[in-house]
Amino acid sequence: MRAILWLVLLLALPAPALAGPEEIVLAAASQRPGMSLAGAWHYSLDPYRAGMAGIHGEPPYENQRRYADIDVAREMARDPQRFYEFDMDRAPVALLPSSWLTHTPEMRHYQGLVWYQRHFDAAPGAGKRLFLRFEAANRSAIVYLNGRLVGRHEGGFTPFTFDVTEIVRPSDNQITVGVDSTPSPHAIPAATTDWENYGGITRDVRLIETPATWIDDSWVRMTRDGRIAVDMRLRGPEAANRPVSLRIAALDLTLRGRTDGTGRWHGQVDAPPGLRRWSPEAPQLYDVKIRAGEDLWQDRIGFRTLRIEGTHILLNDRPVFLRGICLHEEEFGPSPSRTITPQTARALLLAARDGLHANYVRLAHYPHSEVMTRLADELGLIVWSEIPVYWQVAFDDPDALQSARTMQREAILRDRNRAAIAIWSIANETPVMPARNLFLRTLAADARTLDDSRLISAALLASRSDEGGHPVLTMADPMRDLLDIVSVNSYIGWYEGDPLDVVPRIEWRGLPDKPVILSEFGAGALAGFHDPAHGKFSEEFQANYYRATLAMAQAMPSLAGMSPWVLKDFRSPRRQHPVYQQGWNRKGLLSETGARKAAFDVLADWYRERAAQASSMP
Ligand code: GCU
Repeated sequence: MRAILWLVLLLALPAPALAGPEEIVLAAASQRPGMSLAGAWHYSLDPYRAGMAGIHGEPPYENQRRYADIDVAREMARDPQRFYEFDMDRAPVALLPSSWLTHTPEMRHYQGLVWYQRHFDAAPGAGKRLFLRFEAANRSAIVYLNGRLVGRHEGGFTPFTFDVTEIVRPSDNQITVGVDSTPSPHAIPAATTDWENYGGITRDVRLIETPATWIDDSWVRMTRDGRIAVDMRLRGPEAANRPVSLRIAALDLTLRGRTDGTGRWHGQVDAPPGLRRWSPEAPQLYDVKIRAGEDLWQDRIGFRTLRIEGTHILLNDRPVFLRGICLHEEEFGPSPSRTITPQTARALLLAARDGLHANYVRLAHYPHSEVMTRLADELGLIVWSEIPVYWQVAFDDPDALQSARTMQREAILRDRNRAAIAIWSIANETPVMPARNLFLRTLAADARTLDDSRLISAALLASRSDEGGHPVLTMADPMRDLLDIVSVNSYIGWYEGDPLDVVPRIEWRGLPDKPVILSEFGAGALAGFHDPAHGKFSEEFQANYYRATLAMAQAMPSLAGMSPWVLKDFRSPRRQHPVYQQGWNRKGLLSETGARKAAFDVLADWYRERAAQASSMP
């Protein structure tokens, strides 16, 4: 009943504005000069959140305020009556960015609030503006500078930026960040997932200086009709009615214009004849510069077109089959900390591209680091980007919807200049119910409003039945009519009790006349475990499972791609078999340290064959 009431209410109301005027995008921030705050930070555990509130919910006691702009040792020496129950200057030190799970062995399973603090010198030049930019903090963050509250952010996978021009001082600035990894029932993802919850400041933190009037957002792309388009927003005291120019030197292209009264500029121009479109085979990127007033914005951008034609995905007007693999944001190694650097990202993406002959990666189940999406641009890997509307979310909770809408907006505004990204995914394996359908319709509408150049999908589920001993999988999810690409996860032969010889005979029903992606299939195997009986968790079983499922895929008429689950074993607290799992999800084609399992070559051979067929087509 409650869901229906909410449904009626929501239908009656216009979707609330997504972002307040205070939202700072700072698109392509990583391309601007700045000062990294990576390195040594002091940290202090606060599992009872004493630094956030007193015992009766009142403001935190003075002796618990980690963010106080004081020298605790000096205060206590000065006044013997004073005492504190923290001292950040003498607290242990960790190197950030990194999840706290690897700070010490004792913190491996810590979930809750941790305070981080460091000092730095910086002062904005005359007439300049200084931004404090976090690429991600999982899951919620509260930020103080010199004892003053700067702001908060919810969501563990997208960037957030604060204007600290008025707060920062020339020297000895003290930044304190409270990061709480605790999932919220009113946000995404819900508490129940199948991956490690890496708490902490997991991506870079930088100070970025700009002119007082700066280019905050900019989206430069090839439109579906093959033109170059730019949407830019200038902000600050001199944003309105200002001359702007876009320059692509390699194409000798200059586009001039003027912002309107709100600081926005939209420009379009025919693509120059010499432009080489981006593709996996030729991942051409161009240096794009936009000048407005004193500000220079720059990014490296690829230009390509994407559209659907019947059951085909067309990249630059040619059908493309997506030879993919899924991966979590977790580096190779025995004790990962979700630290994605250019080196760790390259190791993951090259294992896909060069090892598996993939041209596509599904970055599951949340927005990955920009390091990863930029590298996919360079290496020529098409990307499925996703927000963690995963399994059972509070679909009838307006706060959960706002959480999803905000994360999706932040992800799209960060990454919509990445040619590699082709698909925005709005969900994974969510239950079919009215509140969920409305939730997803809202997200799909938002994505199309923010970006009309990409395709929308979601990983759906199909229902298993037998028709006179004939195995059938039926796609009946109403979202199939909403999505550009219908994607479906299937684990027949692993979770369901079917023997593997059933899998190639499966008949798919209910698939609409659209491209279909097998967004997941997989089986667990412990690397090095060989079983003559080919039992589950053996490498032999996983290889046979892949042979059987690839045979099924071969027979799917509208299949336009696949992303088997998963490139490498990854940490998951759900997976606790003491012999085969030990807290790892073992469906990787590689072990957590990169050891190949037999199934890796089964998929690689299949993709090599598909790639050869594709390259021989006219
Ligand atoms: C699900 C889910 C994955 C999960 C996988 C598994 O399909 O989307 O996140 O890890 O199955 O069961 O291993």
